[in-house]
Amino acid sequence: MLCPKRMPLQVEAWVGSIGLAVLVLVGPAIASAQSTSGYVGSEACTTCHADASHAYDRTVHARVLNEAVARTERAARGCEACHGPGLTHVQSAGKGEPHEDWIAFTGDTVGDTDEGGLAADRIERENAVCLSCHDHSRVGLWSGSPHAMNDVGCTTCHSTKNPASRRHLLTAADQTTGCGGCHPAARAQQLRNRHMPVRSGPGGAGGEGFMNCSSCHNPHGTVTESLVDANSVNESCYECHAEKRGPFLWEHAPVNESCTNCHVPHGSIRPNMLRVAGPRLCQTCHIQSLHPSQNRGPTDRFSVGQNCQHCHIMVHGSNHPSGNFLTR
Ligand code: HEC
Ligand code: HEC
Ligand code: HEC
Ligand code: HEC
Ligand code: HEC
Ligand code: HEC
Ligand code: HEC
Ligand code: HEC
Ligand code: HEC
Ligand code: HEC
Repeated sequence: MLCPKRMPLQVEAWVGSIGLAVLVLVGPAIASAQSTSGYVGSEACTTCHADASHAYDRTVHARVLNEAVARTERAARGCEACHGPGLTHVQSAGKGEPHEDWIAFTGDTVGDTDEGGLAADRIERENAVCLSCHDHSRVGLWSGSPHAMNDVGCTTCHSTKNPASRRHLLTAADQTTGCGGCHPAARAQQLRNRHMPVRSGPGGAGGEGFMNCSSCHNPHGTVTESLVDANSVNESCYECHAEKRGPFLWEHAPVNESCTNCHVPHGSIRPNMLRVAGPRLCQTCHIQSLHPSQNRGPTDRFSVGQNCQHCHIMVHGSNHPSGNFLTR
């Protein structure tokens, strides 16, 4: 049992004001775990941080990071698995110099311009805590990713105490808002009239909710550019538009290269999310004389009704024996 005399002055005063009951609760917890290098156990934290503990108890971490089910010594530490050894913090009631491995997680994450460039270190230090357990699968390519390189912290998108999403402990209820806050261009494109069903929220309120940003992106890091969560842009599109994969007897070269040659993945103002309206879309690559593909002036009587898909309907590729011009 920890003797009150050995506790720093502040704690004594603090304990005095709250009452002996707290000491009775905190005391044994500290005593039992104190021997193991500055850890006190979660019970001690709960006595002073009832709100944080209560919020935390509803999350997945509370279920997996406790002695009853823990598979590692670290996981058994509960609160201290993330915050680090809390003995000095507890003894000084949060006022004194904490243990060097103590992490409070109270810093801002992006755009924080603290003097002395401390912010960058702090985020790295905080991220390292999460990465010490989550260094695989979805999070495996974090190191060197655009978000890591730009000091976006795990806690920018994740909340360990008060998540707004039902899954994945996200700080925002929906990704259009959460990611869109920093990526307004992508968000704006999704609000255009032609887009995939990405808008979140219930149907009646304009929400579609079938997809979200992470249907195509892995925000933690990828092997591709633009955090596209597949080996290439096309591989990502094929996950849902498998019929566009082929194989085709007659392929159309730009389709194999990248769907984004013709489509804006986030949304556009043209049917089928096309970059440019037809026939101009096709004319960005094909200019031939004596063919409907020929460029025409606006006053030419053949300038309307010349959309290439009137005849070339199989723009993504054809399997017809004589479909070499993608007309059937
Ligand atoms: C004896 C009471 C007491 C106990 C026990 C206690 N804390 Fe604290 N803690 C405090 C006080 C008071 C503060 C506020 C310090 C401040 O604002 O400067 C604090 C601050 C914190 C903060 C930073 C929050 C912020 O807003 O800066 C974290 C994180 C934290 N405590 C976690 C823990 C954990 C984890 C444990 C268990 C290992 C724990 N505390 C045990 C009293 C306690
Ligand atoms: C999975 C890692 C993790 C665990 C486990 C954890 N915390 Fe935290 N804690 C954080 C992070 C990260 C923050 C910063 C805010 C956030 O993300 O929710 C934080 C913030 C806090 C804060 C200050 C902000 C607030 O919400 O009041 C307190 C106090 C706190 N934690 C106490 C605790 C206590 C008590 C426990 C155990 C019951 C605990 N934490 C377990 C990661 C953790
Ligand atoms: C001591 C190991 C440990 C630490 C440290 C840790 N976690 Fe976890 N976390 C787990 C385990 C175990 C699970 C549950 C199994 C899983 O989903 O991998 C989990 C689950 C999660 C999930 C998935 C929740 C869901 O609903 O799918 C997220 C997100 C997460 N952790 C984020 C974080 C963040 C952010 C931090 C740092 C503040 C952190 N974790 C620190 C062990 C840890
Ligand atoms: C830019 C926002 C963002 C950042 C930064 C971020 N995450 Fe996530 N995280 C997400 C989203 C969105 C999901 C849910 C969809 C997904 O799995 O991609 C998620 C899912 C997870 C999961 C659950 C994965 C699974 O397989 O179910 C874990 C664990 C996790 N994140 C940990 C971390 C850790 C650790 C960090 C910091 C190194 C981090 N995240 C940084 C947005 C982010
Ligand atoms: C249907 C798949 C898909 C969805 C859903 C999606 N993206 Fe993308 N995103 C892409 C592809 C593909 C690229 C690469 C574009 C290129 O290479 O031309 C990209 C590129 C980006 C870029 C890089 C800059 C740019 O515009 O080229 C950002 C930032 C981005 N997306 C953010 C988001 C955000 C935020 C969301 C959710 C609001 C989102 N994306 C939803 C497929 C998607
Ligand atoms: C706190 C701000 C912030 C949040 C929130 C955020 N991002 Fe980012 N994101 C950045 C920064 C900064 C970069 C790197 C600079 C850049 O390329 O714009 C970046 C880069 C990206 C890129 C790569 C752009 C490229 O050209 O390589 C994609 C894709 C992306 N973010 C998607 C997402 C998705 C999806 C989410 C939500 C799960 C998200 N971001 C949430 C700040 C943020
Ligand atoms: C050469 C330009 C071009 C390329 C490259 C392209 N598309 Fe298209 N796509 C079109 C045109 C034009 C339409 C409109 C079709 C129509 O009017 O019949 C369309 C329509 C679509 C549609 C909606 C109608 C349908 O056929 O289901 C989907 C889905 C689609 N494309 C997916 C893809 C995917 C996935 C890729 C990459 C593998 C891709 N597109 C590459 C030009 C292109
Ligand atoms: C997670 C699944 C998913 C992924 C990944 C995906 N799509 Fe879609 N896409 C859809 C759904 C769902 C629709 C709507 C189908 C409908 O309304 O019938 C759609 C519709 C479309 C349309 C027609 C839009 C319109 O205006 O009618 C095009 C074009 C398209 N997707 C292209 C792409 C491209 C290019 C990619 C890769 C960057 C991609 N999709 C990745 C699910 C996906
Ligand atoms: C990004 C450039 C690009 C765009 C945009 C594009 N194409 Fe193509 N197209 C090509 C290339 C490259 C070939 C292969 C030419 C070759 O093999 O000689 C091709 C081949 C074709 C062929 C077969 C010609 C042949 O000789 O085999 C037809 C027909 C065709 N495209 C029609 C279209 C139509 C219709 C559109 C608009 C929906 C379109 N293309 C948009 C680049 C493009
Ligand atoms: C009225 C129907 C029709 C329209 C509209 C049309 N085409 Fe064609 N196109 C054809 C036919 C038929 C062929 C095959 C010609 C042949 O057999 O010699 C062809 C052939 C082609 C070829 C291959 C030419 C070659 O000699 O290699 C390309 C490329 C092409 N079209 C592009 C386009 C583009 C781009 C547009 C729109 C600007 C377009 N076409 C509009 C009917 C059409």
